[in-house]
Amino acid sequence: MSKRNIKNSIKLYWEDTLLEMFPSKSLFVHKTNELLISDIHLGKGEYFQQNGIPLTNGGDKSNFERIYRLIDKFNPSKLIILGDIFHSKYSISSNLKNNIEELINYYKNKIIFIEGNHDKGCLIKDILYIKNKRSLNLIYSHEPLNIKEKNVLNICGHYHPKFLLKDFKDKISLKCFALDNYRNKLYLPAFGDLTGGKFCNREFQKWGILSENNIVEIQ
Ligand SMILES: [Fe+2]
Repeated sequence: MSKRNIKNSIKLYWEDTLLEMFPSKSLFVHKTNELLISDIHLGKGEYFQQNGIPLTNGGDKSNFERIYRLIDKFNPSKLIILGDIFHSKYSISSNLKNNIEELINYYKNKIIFIEGNHDKGCLIKDILYIKNKRSLNLIYSHEPLNIKEKNVLNICGHYHPKFLLKDFKDKISLKCFALDNYRNKLYLPAFGDLTGGKFCNREFQKWGILSENNIVEIQ
């Protein structure tokens, strides 16, 4: 990996639609000013605690701070969350409820919630989940969809893609964006702090998140 290839963002064209991937684990659609993130898994720390594992996430403080920072930076026409906003219906505290309602109020009518498998039963005032959304030649969903149109890209989450960076004596796994060129799917990395992941298929094109500010194409 040459230092030259390490960037602050990476642009990708899907036909004439410009997408930009950021190390903040967000994707910006230039034509529509939509900002996409996926798999936040709010309440995951509390879920572990309920199950006797002393894991803490400070009430998702960093997750919320990062979302507010993105809204202020991009001022998108819509913030689209591609599912798994919450981790479990059993770990939605009143604090979490207040924080999410505050966020919805802050960005009124501009947040679109796509329902993920973890969001089932997570009923919060003012959240109306949708299954998927079409925009230009893109379809946003949580799990990958079977789409027949050849010129349409499905942008989804669910898999929390990651990759292994290694040399002969050490290795580390990092989150990435992953493009399946054969099936027209772009998988977003999980946005949440406490999220594991799945190693992606070797044939996928990958852009790895090295730090808060750095992203790189993985060859
Ligand atoms: Fe997820």
